[in-house]
Amino acid sequence: MNAVVGVDSKVLLDLQSKLTLETAPGRLLQAFEYVVRNARQAVEHESAITVSSRDEGDEVVVRVEDKGVGIPPEVLPKIFQPYFTTKDARQGTGLGLNIVQRLVKEGGGVLHVDTRPGEGTAFTIYLPAATVVK
Ligand SMILES: Nc1ncnc2c1ncn2[C@@H]1O[C@H](COP(=O)(O)OP(=O)(O)OP(=O)(O)O)[C@@H](O)[C@H]1O
Ligand SMILES: [Mg+2]
Repeated sequence: MNAVVGVDSKVLLDLQSKLTLETAPGRLLQAFEYVVRNARQAVEHESAITVSSRDEGDEVVVRVEDKGVGIPPEVLPKIFQPYFTTKDARQGTGLGLNIVQRLVKEGGGVLHVDTRPGEGTAFTIYLPAATVVK
């Protein structure tokens, strides 16, 4: 899988997946963008973000990792709720992760979050690779 997100050079990209993802135009890309935007808003410097992809069997694993503020335990259960945000109105509507979750589900995938307050957060998206018929 090439070109995951149109991120600039400050974000570390480690794209190792060789599999292909099949998706309606832009949909998964939109999901990745929402997650990367959250990462950017959680860190002081974008160099604290890594986007990686790798293959695990028939799945593509895309991981967006940041060394940012992390998510407090009392906030974590709410992050996928529509309109839940801890940001001010100019920065967030609270719809991002709700949409990400829907897009990943529609793509037959699974989304995991690991976070430590004060240390950072990682969102990992597991997606089934396309079956390429030759
Ligand atoms: N990488 C992250 N680090 C720390 N907190 C995060 C991270 N990603 C999400 N969150 C928390 O989850 C909440 C919900 O995220 P979500 O993307 O759904 O909404 P939002 O970023 O607030 O607004 P928007 O709709 O513009 O994306 C955020 O307000 C924030 O508190
Ligand atoms: Mg967001």
